[in-house]
Amino acid sequence: MAKASGYVTDVAYPAHFHKELLPLWLVTLATVKGLRSPSLNQPYSYCELGCGLGINLLVAAACNPLGEFVGVDFNPQHIAFARQASERLGLANLRFVQADFAEFAATNALQFDFVVSHGVWSWIAQAAQQQILSVLKHSLKPQGLFYLHYMCHPGASAMQPVQKLLSELAEHLSASSAQNMGAGLDLLSRLDQAGVFHDQPGMSERLAQLQSMDKAYLAHDLLSPYWQPQHSIDVHRQLAQAGLSYVDSANAFDVLETLSVPQAAQALIANLPSPALRELAKDLARNQRQRQDLFQKCPQALGPQAQLASLAQLRWQLLPGAPRSGGQVFATPIGPIDGPAQLLSPLLERLAQGPASTAELGQLAAYGGNLTVLLQSLLLLMWRGHVHPQRMDAEPQPHVAALTDWLGQHELKIQLAAECGTAVLDEAALAKH
Ligand SMILES: C[S@@+](CC[C@H](N)C(=O)[O-])C[C@H]1O[C@@H](n2cnc3c(N)ncnc32)[C@H](O)[C@@H]1O
Repeated sequence: MAKASGYVTDVAYPAHFHKELLPLWLVTLATVKGLRSPSLNQPYSYCELGCGLGINLLVAAACNPLGEFVGVDFNPQHIAFARQASERLGLANLRFVQADFAEFAATNALQFDFVVSHGVWSWIAQAAQQQILSVLKHSLKPQGLFYLHYMCHPGASAMQPVQKLLSELAEHLSASSAQNMGAGLDLLSRLDQAGVFHDQPGMSERLAQLQSMDKAYLAHDLLSPYWQPQHSIDVHRQLAQAGLSYVDSANAFDVLETLSVPQAAQALIANLPSPALRELAKDLARNQRQRQDLFQKCPQALGPQAQLASLAQLRWQLLPGAPRSGGQVFATPIGPIDGPAQLLSPLLERLAQGPASTAELGQLAAYGGNLTVLLQSLLLLMWRGHVHPQRMDAEPQPHVAALTDWLGQHELKIQLAAECGTAVLDEAALAKH
């Protein structure tokens, strides 16, 4: 099996898009949390560490012409694919660097307003994590935002022995990582049939689910010898040492604590003595499997007036495929949640007529001027991929049509929402995510 620093490199990681990495998403959440964030109405810089095939960056660069985007990855196959796409589309505001994090930390001279990393941190050695911290320490601007996705306890804990068996077994096999993954899953399936997992609730179902998934994806997901679910409190401590403060989750559902944490646990958690401890307790309460954390360097509060003004200005629109009226039942990690028609329908009906600002939506009778309830409804619909704020700059986006064609040619089920600087996954792709 071909590996660099223990990480799979012989098979390419499949193309993925994550809306939470995009600049406007991150700025919107920082504003909701009352923090001053980088302006998207003037040139800004953005870096993705471990960018894979670069899909997030292709979308970001085509839809956000004021941003200068940089993708870093040590896998030559990934970078060759991403560069070819970027050159073909003529994206002058996107650059890919083939380097490991150590080399990039040592050579990068740019300062970034945004750094993001998805699907990397809990798969790499501690030394590589330190290199990411070094990039943040030296190259993230004050008030710059950092997005970090990682597997965490306790939701991912049960997979640790299974992952260990898969990655150790692969060391004894000589086929490609994807084939080794298939061999490992066959072994696990036979162990399951032999009754090995009878006292591990849910494991048989989880293994059956893995059997149906793309083996190249699973090789990246489960064959790294460094795969290690994290305790969020440890990650937050490491980030604090690099000078970054935790803002909140970048997952809009997790931001909505009144929905995502069982009601009886909310007061107990709220009384814990530190924010990091509260996050750790929320991980327990939600049996959290992965986290999407938003951090900021040297955060500055907007102040209530400026925050209200920034929120009021945001203009919202429906995304492709969104319902145009009615209540919604949301499939969430803690089971189905009812989004009542009396709250959501007026919002959807209004946006079905065209974009509207937060201030305009606040005047709908359903909200009676209650900004908190309106923002909660918007966050829920944002999380579900139904609504999104619009870009506030009026720069032309000359590469959107070419990227739309390119996505179609590559059969990627991603639809651009260029007015919002982002994209949406179609329902089938969403279900797999
Ligand atoms: C699971 S993929 C995630 C790709 C992309 N961020 C996404 O979410 O679709 C992780 C990526 O990190 C890259 N990577 C892992 N360790 C690295 C290192 N030390 N230096 C640079 N890239 C690394 C891998 O090559 C791979 O492309």
